[in-house]
Amino acid sequence: MENAVNDVNRRAIARRQLQDLWQAGCDFLGSEVSILGGAMSWVSERHLVSAISNAGGFGVIACGAMQPERLAEEISATRALTDRPFGVNLITMHPELEKLVAVCLEHEVTHVVLAGGVPSGATIRQVRDGGARAIAFAPALALGKRLVKLGIEALVIEGSEAGGHVGPVSLNVLVQEILPYVSDVPVFVAGGLGRGDAILSYLERGAAGAQLGTLFAASAESIAHEHFKKAFIRASARDAITSSQLDERFPVIPVRGLTNSGTRRFMAHQADVLGRFQKGEVSREDAQLEIEHFWAGALRRAVIEGDVEEGSVMAGQSVGMVKTIRPVRDIIDSLVEQAVDALILRDERMSARRVPELAAG
Ligand SMILES: Cc1cc2nc3c(=O)[nH]c(=O)nc-3n(C[C@H](O)[C@H](O)[C@H](O)COP(=O)(O)O)c2cc1C
Repeated sequence: MENAVNDVNRRAIARRQLQDLWQAGCDFLGSEVSILGGAMSWVSERHLVSAISNAGGFGVIACGAMQPERLAEEISATRALTDRPFGVNLITMHPELEKLVAVCLEHEVTHVVLAGGVPSGATIRQVRDGGARAIAFAPALALGKRLVKLGIEALVIEGSEAGGHVGPVSLNVLVQEILPYVSDVPVFVAGGLGRGDAILSYLERGAAGAQLGTLFAASAESIAHEHFKKAFIRASARDAITSSQLDERFPVIPVRGLTNSGTRRFMAHQADVLGRFQKGEVSREDAQLEIEHFWAGALRRAVIEGDVEEGSVMAGQSVGMVKTIRPVRDIIDSLVEQAVDALILRDERMSARRVPELAAG
């Protein structure tokens, strides 16, 4: 009986500790737990975003290539499904960026995530002057500091373990390079996170919260095609690789996804274009465009149409931890419980060490 009471108390204390560790993130996001659902083009729409926010996390709509009217519709539809806060992720090179920000502000979106490049001071001001909070990605310490000077109110540091477009540096290294030196704004970590104990380790080092994509893409509420989710369940971490560039004259932005017939054909396609360029049959500009166009529409093909052989099955290395299709609430609850378990286990380990030391006098 006494043991059971002790266990309950210990769990309550660990929960309180976790809450303290990510309180700044929760306060910033207006959520119960400091877990963002990273925006995923085609995947992060009204159903998944509202499910994440309703489960206590913070959902983010992926605007991607949407036009302003379409974004307005998605925001309204999301609001109809949740009364909790959620964000919108905008790609900074979108030709209608200013209008998209205006749509977010008109619809009283509380947080705007500026992705896909370094946002200008003018865009950050537009977001903040309109009453929303501005978040951006920091791929390196110097850029993170510059973004804070420009008025960014929170940073996401995303390691190369993540799904989708990635930088070259792992979260393990980015965290060491950035976390100890940024204290003015909350910093959220992303990339390869599949368990609560891993999230806890970053919170203890100063992160305010975590952003996850891959786990949520395979959730019950995700509208991704059944084939897409099943490919996630089958895959292990080593199947989620970044796209390779064949020739340094023709840059390829690395995208992490599951290897399939499409990724293999991409290599052959680059070789073919390169061959024709070397023979003078195609100009450098056209060759670059041909390489870039290979993946046009490929994410939609995989996510919506379920063609996981030819489409782009973007996924992070955490894909190996996706074992079943689970509701978002289950995913978030187990992340929290894993963090709580880790705190309890750590306490047990420390006291087991202390007792013999004390006994030894
Ligand atoms: C299918 C897929 C699509 C994604 N699309 C976008 C996107 O449109 N914009 C963006 O900023 N990040 C995108 N991401 C990255 C996620 O927002 C998130 O940061 C990342 O998935 C976190 O790493 P994880 O996959 O290891 O959890 C995408 C990720 C996946 C898996």
